[in-house]
Amino acid sequence: LTGVITMDPGYKNSGSCKSDITFLDGEEGILRYRGYSIEDLAEKANFLEVSYLVIFGELPTKQQLHQFEEDIRKYTLVNEEMKNIIDGFPKTAHPMGVLSSLTSALTAFNPKVVNVDNEKEMYDTVCKTMGKFLVLATWTFRKSSGFPLNYYDNTKGYVENFMRLMFELPTGPYTINPVVVDALDKLFILHADHEQNCSTSTVRMVGSSQSGLFASISAGVSALWGPLHGGANQAVLEMLEAIQKDGGDADKYMAKAKDKDDPFRLMGFGHRVYKNFDPRARIIKKAADEVLATLGVNDPVLAIAKKLEEAALNDDYFKSRNLYPNVDFYSGIIYRALGIPTDMFTVMFAIGRLPGWIAQWKEMRLNKEPIGRPRQIYTGHPLRDFKEVDKR
Ligand code: SDX
Repeated sequence: LTGVITMDPGYKNSGSCKSDITFLDGEEGILRYRGYSIEDLAEKANFLEVSYLVIFGELPTKQQLHQFEEDIRKYTLVNEEMKNIIDGFPKTAHPMGVLSSLTSALTAFNPKVVNVDNEKEMYDTVCKTMGKFLVLATWTFRKSSGFPLNYYDNTKGYVENFMRLMFELPTGPYTINPVVVDALDKLFILHADHEQNCSTSTVRMVGSSQSGLFASISAGVSALWGPLHGGANQAVLEMLEAIQKDGGDADKYMAKAKDKDDPFRLMGFGHRVYKNFDPRARIIKKAADEVLATLGVNDPVLAIAKKLEEAALNDDYFKSRNLYPNVDFYSGIIYRALGIPTDMFTVMFAIGRLPGWIAQWKEMRLNKEPIGRPRQIYTGHPLRDFKEVDKR
């Protein structure tokens, strides 16, 4: 059975759910979106094509894809008053915190809660979310760097616009190497959905109370921010840079990762579900080699990453705990090669995961799932008699 997790007969919506979107086999290292392997999609499709597939269930025809891109363009202008909100943040604010706030603020400017059963209304909301979220994500960087906020260029593609929105300056033209667009397409595709991970479950949970899409995605952004989840890609680079600064001794950090008295974990290793390998890490590792070679980037942290991976793959502690590189281990190296600042790495993850969040929220609402209400095992006090304060 693909994607169907046994429902807990005890409580409806107690945490597991049925879904048609993503199939994941942790033992075999298989990941498919709507039945298509991520290996095929990463190689042969672009990010908007895969976003359409994940959200609407089928690969778009040429006409549908063209129309999807056109319809997203209708919504890439963000209300100018949103600038008052972003101006309220200090430049030092972490981009994920700003993005979560800006995403929630979209509700104020688009208060009508979408009728998910109205296909046209839902389609328009999808296009609005894909358009505005990308712009707001880049505004978090522009704000922290003191650059003027850029606008989407409706003559350019979605992924190309990301790089322009991030880096184009009024002082001159900005050209993009097609290798960069291809690498970003691949990275966003590989992050597009991952069944019921922490942030996606958060989006479903918030949406299950009939909260709107923007509010649900805002909560998902906050959940993704954590270093055990999407925040790991930033933590991986910070770890590799610390190892590099400390002389590049991979064995020393392997020992720290195994020392129970040391809180240090090898970031980018391990996974709640993949217990052999993360298929996305394999594709990203190959892409990292290709992108750095094509761009002529010689990044010493890539060598440290490979030394760590080699050491972990041959280490009994790691092998006995099924700890292998996950999606976050190599992605940050590519982002760095593309000039993306480290504190924007998790924002990159959010841009890639957006179609999955939308698709899962839409599916949960179309399935009329009841409000999420996990139960608990009570381990507290039995009944006790009240004591007046002067007797405590
Ligand atoms: C993502 O769920 C998803 O699908 C998430 C995601 C997605 O696409 O949405 O795939 C994205 O979040 C990837 C994971 C990114 N996080 C990291 O890379 C952070 C580092 N990894 C770990 O913190 C950890 O591996 C988790 C959180 C990813 C998984 O945790 P588990 O499965 O609960 O593992 P655990 O904490 O129960 O650990 C099992 C054992 C423990 O040792 P013992 O108590 O058995 O002796 O493995 C050890 C842990 O101490 N361990 C590690 C380790 N991860 C687990 N030891 C060293 N380094 C690590 N990274």
